[in-house]
Amino acid sequence: MDKLLIIGGTRLAGEIEISGAKNAALPILCASLLTREPLTLTRVPALNDVRTMLKLLQRMGVKVEIAPGTGGDTVTLCAAGLDNPLAPYELVKTMRASILVLGPLTARCGEARVSLPGGCAIGARPVDQHIKGLQQMGAEVNVEHGYVHARTTRLRGARLFTDMVTVTGTENLMLAACLADGETIIENAAREPEVVDLAQCLVSMGAQISGAGTDVIRVRGVDSLHGAEHRIMPDRIETGTYLCAAAVTGGEVRLRGTSAGYLDVVVDKLLDAGCDITSEKSPSFEAICIKAPRKLKSVSLRTAPYPAFPTDMQAQFMALNTVADGTAFIRETIFENRFMHAVELQRLGADITIDGNTAVVRGRERLLGADVMATDLRASASLVVAALAAEGETCVDRIYHLDRGYEKLDQKLGALGAQVKRTR
Ligand code: EPZ
Repeated sequence: MDKLLIIGGTRLAGEIEISGAKNAALPILCASLLTREPLTLTRVPALNDVRTMLKLLQRMGVKVEIAPGTGGDTVTLCAAGLDNPLAPYELVKTMRASILVLGPLTARCGEARVSLPGGCAIGARPVDQHIKGLQQMGAEVNVEHGYVHARTTRLRGARLFTDMVTVTGTENLMLAACLADGETIIENAAREPEVVDLAQCLVSMGAQISGAGTDVIRVRGVDSLHGAEHRIMPDRIETGTYLCAAAVTGGEVRLRGTSAGYLDVVVDKLLDAGCDITSEKSPSFEAICIKAPRKLKSVSLRTAPYPAFPTDMQAQFMALNTVADGTAFIRETIFENRFMHAVELQRLGADITIDGNTAVVRGRERLLGADVMATDLRASASLVVAALAAEGETCVDRIYHLDRGYEKLDQKLGALGAQVKRTR
């Protein structure tokens, strides 16, 4: 099992390229199921979760061609031969986002059999809203033997209202609605930029979608979609993670191929912590630069759906607050168990008290390196951020979690001067 050995205390400096967004690429790969024609995607990040999704799609009969590239992979998918609308447990259990095939398979094939994703480290993460929406669109959906089995002659447009804001729930229902008979309105829709990127890809394939990025998305169903080309948006959570890494090391870093546009509230928190942040934007280029002070100020936050503070940045900011000046209050409102990084940060000397869904973080003068263990994707990112600030060596175990969502993390940190080594 791979580990990361990190010797902290080095000030990060230099520049790196941000990869395509994992949470945009995953639903957009599933859009290929909606057409018999080729869908070509560029800036696809080379991540384990992407590889798992491609394996799942190939299992269903989708042809996949990958052209690796320095600025991300070019992936061409063709679902003309789609003949097996099944997402088996052995694959779904390794990646919850597999549930995103449910909507497009039901719409395209009239049937789908998708293993329930089950819970994960950060929470129960049910998919009841995905199922309820498909039922409202006329699908007969049963949950038996650990599988969601959906059947329909043709989905019909409906007015849907999700009980809570759900990112993949919104995406699944938007994917399904593209081929439904009539208009579907999704109210209380997720507004995340990745939802907008998916909608833009679907529109380029001939879908009729309006309102993506707002809480009311309208989809007028069509009989079929055609092929298209789409470039995946930059990963705003990867961007925020490197901004935190630069911040805790008093560094000065430039992140190419990304912008502050999707991260306003995260940038605001870094400004409050005492960092200088500037954006560069031209028709062909964008970048975000950060210059951090020697000592950060504590910043409190409360996670909520976009455009509020993203839950996927909560763990990284907890790490940042462990070495800031002052006391921060971190409130997690999206997932019921997303503080597991706290006990590992305490092993580095962090002063954190958990009270229900609030963490109180009292900044320390310094952290000391130790052996720690990753438990989920963003928790492992938080341990890396803290290790970069800690004195001495930290060994982060179980970094397969990191490899799910961060492309070439050790190489990118190394390019910024960090002392990081991957070992077995
Ligand atoms: C997406 O997960 C992201 N994953 C997550 O990123 C992210 O943390 C999350 O949205 C919130 O922003 C992908 O996009 C692949 P939700 P998702 O449905 O869609 C409850 C990462 O680190 N809920 O928006 O699964 C749910 O339990 C990952 O990259 C229901 O109760 O999250 C949660 O409390 C982690 N029933 C809340 O809603 C449902 O049917 C929001 O979950 C659906 C959701």
